[in-house]
Parts: sequence; structure tokens; C-alpha cells
Amino acid sequence: MLDKKVANLINEQVNKELYSAYLYLDFSIFYEAQGLDGFANWYMIQAQEERDHAMLFLKYLQNNGESVTLDAVAKPDKKLNVLMDPIKVRI
Ligand SMILES: [Fe+2]
Repeated sequence: MLDKKVANLINEQVNKELYSAYLYLDFSIFYEAQGLDGFANWYMIQAQEERDHAMLFLKYLQNNGESVTLDAVAKPDKKLNVLMDPIKVRI
């Protein structure tokens, strides 16, 4: 069994990793809509990586006999048009 504080922190990290995946997925959707398939694909891969991180932490808790509680994943809140500025400068 893990120290309860450590287990809780790792459980919180699961949510943070899923939020990161959600954020990258949102970026991917944004770039796909802009017709920038390469950027969209790169962010999609990053989203998958963050989901993988979440699963590693989740499995670590389960492998140590800890329960896992999933929390709501926050809506991505970034202003995506900011991401386009460097591209506009180059065009
Ligand atoms: Fe991560």
C-alpha cells in the first residue's frame, strides 16, 4: 500500500494528464480546421502520449492496491488563435 497522501497526489495526476490530453486534442482539432494537417497530427500524437501517462499512473495505483477515482476533466481554456500568430508572421 502506498502512503495515502502519495496515492491521492498520483490520483490527481491522472486527472492532470487527462486534461493535458484534452488540451492537445483541442489544439489538434483547431489545426485540422485550419487545414494544417501536420500540426493537427503532431498535437494528436501529444494527446495520445498524455493519455498514456494517465494510464501509467492509473495502473500504478491499481498495481499497488489503491482505488482510482476519476474526476471531471476541465474544458480546454486556451485562446487558440494565439497559436496561429507565428504562422501568420511567416506567411
Ligand atoms: Fe504527461
